[in-house]
Amino acid sequence: MFVKDQDEDGGLGKDRLLELFGATEEDKKRMESEGVRVPIPGQQHEELLLFDFRGPCPGLNAMANHGYIPRKGIATIDEFVHGTQEVFGMGGDLALLLSIIGVQMGGEILSLSFSIGKGENSILGPLLSGNGLTGSHNNYEADVSPTRGDFNNNHDVRMSQFLQLYNLQSNVSDPASQVNYDIDILTIFRLSRFQQSIANNPYFFNGPITGVLVQPAAYQFIFHFTANKSEEYPEGRLDREWPLFITAIQKLILEVPRRLLGPGQERIPDNWYKRAIGDEYGLVSVLREATSIGIAHPEFLSV
Ligand code: HEM
Repeated sequence: MFVKDQDEDGGLGKDRLLELFGATEEDKKRMESEGVRVPIPGQQHEELLLFDFRGPCPGLNAMANHGYIPRKGIATIDEFVHGTQEVFGMGGDLALLLSIIGVQMGGEILSLSFSIGKGENSILGPLLSGNGLTGSHNNYEADVSPTRGDFNNNHDVRMSQFLQLYNLQSNVSDPASQVNYDIDILTIFRLSRFQQSIANNPYFFNGPITGVLVQPAAYQFIFHFTANKSEEYPEGRLDREWPLFITAIQKLILEVPRRLLGPGQERIPDNWYKRAIGDEYGLVSVLREATSIGIAHPEFLSV
């Protein structure tokens, strides 16, 4: 899910990125001529249909793509709570709060449902639509998103922002064992994104819900929900492959319009392990962490 923007790719060339996806020379040639999906590790997920909705949240997009919530991209609170726990180990209290805000800010109260994208937003049909997550800018969808823009297009990945994060680990001496986009790295990334938004967005808004809850959560979720858990790394390790999972980045790299993963087509890799049962990341954890980051960097708390 990408917008092509004009920024430099931060020194990481297309060939290098293709190597990271394990593309062979033959694959590369085919991609140049006809457009073939990069073979990233990932379980099969279904392609989007014309009226499926996807939006700014890569976690919910991935869940819909794999059928953990309805593939159409419109779900009820109950479905969001169960799906987020099943796929990512999100605490029920946190999932419930996020879902209630979703209904309130962009959904429909009768069926307690909302769209993860924009358009027809209720399971009861288009007449009772809210604006969905995509249409909730400054109410729910926030400025200073990790990989999405503040305005014009707030739901597609911007390559420059993705590479800004990706290249924060470019100096480690042994990438195979040392790269880990943990909370410290993500906080450095957030500080820099915060300054960029202040400098470039004349309508910059660090609101009480968007700036103080949603924005920190977006960064913290990247590590706590998508880092690959193992015996060696019980808290998870987010190495160079896993950020690709949250961004479905292959489309932009190839710059070939046909037969590629398009916007909203995040997929869950095959060999990925979620949080352990009983180790859910819930409301208390997210708020405690957001507060300690806020105390260390008070500019984040200026509403
Ligand atoms: C009911 C549950 C959820 C709701 C209602 C929700 C909603 C949202 C919203 C409104 C945004 C946009 C925030 C912004 O503008 O930066 C967002 C972003 C994000 N969400 Fe979710 N989310 C949910 C669950 C999850 C889960 C389970 C994950 C696990 C990976 C996740 C990962 C993210 C990430 C990483 C972003 C930032 C994307 C980026 O800009 O790079 N979310 N979510």
